[in-house]
Amino acid sequence: MTKERSIIDTSRDREGRVMAKDSLTITDNRTGKNYEIPITYDTVNASDLRQIKVKSDDFGMMTYDPGFKNTASCISRITYIDGDNGILEYRGYAIADLAEHSSFLDVAFLLIFGRLPNQAELGQWTRDIMMHTLVHENIKKFIDGFQHNAHPMGMVVSAVAALSTFYPDAKNISDPAVRRLQMIRLLGKMPTLAAYAYRHSMGWHYVYPENNFSYAGNFLNMMFRMTEREYVPNPVLERALDVLFILHADHEQNCSANAMRSVGSSHADPYSATAAAAAALYGPLHGGANEAVLRMLERIGTIKNVPDFITKVKAGEGLLMGFGHRIYKNYDPRARIIKEMADKVFEVTGRNPLLDIAVELERIALEDEYFVKRKLYPNVDFYSGLIYQALRIPTDMFPVMFAIPRTAGWLAQWEELINDEEQKIARPRQIYLGDRGKTFVPVDRR
Ligand code: CMC
Repeated sequence: MTKERSIIDTSRDREGRVMAKDSLTITDNRTGKNYEIPITYDTVNASDLRQIKVKSDDFGMMTYDPGFKNTASCISRITYIDGDNGILEYRGYAIADLAEHSSFLDVAFLLIFGRLPNQAELGQWTRDIMMHTLVHENIKKFIDGFQHNAHPMGMVVSAVAALSTFYPDAKNISDPAVRRLQMIRLLGKMPTLAAYAYRHSMGWHYVYPENNFSYAGNFLNMMFRMTEREYVPNPVLERALDVLFILHADHEQNCSANAMRSVGSSHADPYSATAAAAAALYGPLHGGANEAVLRMLERIGTIKNVPDFITKVKAGEGLLMGFGHRIYKNYDPRARIIKEMADKVFEVTGRNPLLDIAVELERIALEDEYFVKRKLYPNVDFYSGLIYQALRIPTDMFPVMFAIPRTAGWLAQWEELINDEEQKIARPRQIYLGDRGKTFVPVDRR
């Protein structure tokens, strides 16, 4: 944080208020000593606490923060979230504006390069990405090796990691042009890997990417084209998918972004880091939640079972999936946009009957003291699955649908990490409370 400190006005806080002193005075009651710790952006640098010691040869004070609930791991300029007020911005642009006016590739450029592209740049960016949608033929063999009931997310995580073996140049992470090429390849190939994983699970032939489609249209073509001479995606569904991609493109330092940065911090190539990020996304508390929501709605079955289900959740017998968020203590702005979009999609596909159960769950939960007190609101995953299902995307593909656009965010986070001179290999400390100095006992005497 030293560099940042030198350029900011440290006599003011983030809102510009004049502060008496931009430091924290700590009294160590074990020793009676006082320490003055500088404050920047309402934050203290954890390493500044190391000077707090009882004996001179002590390691010094650390902070303990499982799950990083109150620890900033980086300075970032990509995504802003105000969880209390339900605000999400990419590079300063409100998510609702981007969802209404932008396209996913426009947003991917914005996230990675920090500004919206002009017409020529967007054209070139789009052409570059669409030219890199093909994967090596060996990837097909690789995917063929999976069982037909293999979870598509497992296939995608493995296939992304495998890409690193096809592009050994990717190891050269210090070259900006090499990094840009890998980012284009990853954005181009993720939908192809996703569609191949799906078609393999269906036992269908693979459909090669076609670069005359839009990014979302090409994905729908690779997923659903059968024997027809020409596949024409429905424009409403194609746009809905593109908007879903925009909404899922980044979400600052979440579990998978943290995995991307953590693996990236060891200077691994971006394919390996993306595979790690996708693996983190797979879990039901993160990107796997959309799949879990659908399965929950199917289990509930009808509106009349909703009150019973809520009672069980309140008794601690499970979670209301798609509700709650580490950061949002208000309605997730993405959930609001998706809920509105659902009506347009259902006009084309017919209404998803599970929507009524979801709406009733939301209605009861938003009035119920248990959820109100804990500030649990619908998150992005609560309604997205209903749209995916209307698009005929099977439930176990939902986390994959999240991973495709989130690749843009992971890459933006990775690029920022590589360019941040303050970043080091991620290596947390621990508080060791285990045994020490034990005498080894041979196996026959245990
Ligand atoms: N249903 C019922 N109770 C909940 C829920 C829920 N969905 N979420 C949190 N709570 C309760 C939790 O039991 C705890 O209660 P108490 O204070 O009595 O112990 C309280 O609310 C605080 O929860 P927490 O687990 O300490 O909060 P967290 O910030 O660690 O977890 C979360 C956030 C998203 C993991 C959690 O809310 C959750 O498991 N939600 C369901 C899964 C889900 O929808 N995940 C998608 C997140 S959004 C997209 C993404 O990031 O991928």
